[in-house]
Amino acid sequence: MLCELPPIDDPAVLVGTSTADDAAVYKLDDERAIVQTVDLITPIVDDPYDYGQIAAANSLSDVYAMGGSPLFALAVVCFPSRQVPLDVLGRILQGGIAKAREAGISVVGGHSVEDQEPKYGLVVTGLVSPDHILTNAGARPGDVLVLTKPIGSGILTTALKKKRLKEEAVRKVVEVMTTLNRAASEALEGLQVHALTDVTGFGLLGHLIEMVAASGVGARLQAPAVPVLEEAWPLARRGIYPGGTKRNLEYFGSSVQWSQETSKETQLVLADPQTSGGLLIAIAPEDIDELLSRLGTASIIGEITATPPGIVQVNGV
Ligand code: CO
Ligand code: CO
Repeated sequence: MLCELPPIDDPAVLVGTSTADDAAVYKLDDERAIVQTVDLITPIVDDPYDYGQIAAANSLSDVYAMGGSPLFALAVVCFPSRQVPLDVLGRILQGGIAKAREAGISVVGGHSVEDQEPKYGLVVTGLVSPDHILTNAGARPGDVLVLTKPIGSGILTTALKKKRLKEEAVRKVVEVMTTLNRAASEALEGLQVHALTDVTGFGLLGHLIEMVAASGVGARLQAPAVPVLEEAWPLARRGIYPGGTKRNLEYFGSSVQWSQETSKETQLVLADPQTSGGLLIAIAPEDIDELLSRLGTASIIGEITATPPGIVQVNGV
């Protein structure tokens, strides 16, 4: 939709709407650029404090996905204050503030609107060095693809909405979604990272397609190597997944070459929309060992190829 808006011709805008990137980057001088993003989500878990933490981690993620460090945030809130007690809103805001504090920043203000359905998120302002901006363009043939969090949160939260998720699995998915991408982003310091994005609404496969399209390269994804919350498999087999999954799969179309053996469930899981998903990193092969030792938990899930450009080949069951 942004394609139909007038182009941006401000030379200080280093990253704008022309690529499907995560945040805007605005150059101040040769050493500093502002990185800024806004994101808000509807509740996806029952606990308001957890919801606040997830929404805040999700908003902060787009700054980390550009290689930036956050400075401060503003809260954006929609809330049905006549139907839902205000202390619920208080818990949401407290969750967000706690997560912002973990990111080393404060929530310094914000704006709220009366609305039927609650929505919450942050406007996050950060800094990035203009020479160290990481975008989803720039992946090179031979780069190794690394993912820092398991996928499947869309399937698990859909099951939660239908009251078909065990308490232990709820805790697991909340843990994944509230984990900041801060440590993952900081671990990239000084390494030859050529492209970076976070995995959100388009699913792992969608964000990888965007990366290869922006970079003019292709990719091979090893489906069995992708970390997945294990509860996602039986749920996907029973047809429990978000509405966005099918839309994603249709949208990918000919940008994906599925291997014969790739199962229906694997397709659903790879297209699963994520909230506050992990970082997807394209890194030079000589730096992969150092990256994995810094990250602790992360998975090599494939590689960047020269051809066919714009296409992701999915291998394995
Ligand atoms: Co993003
Ligand atoms: Co976003």
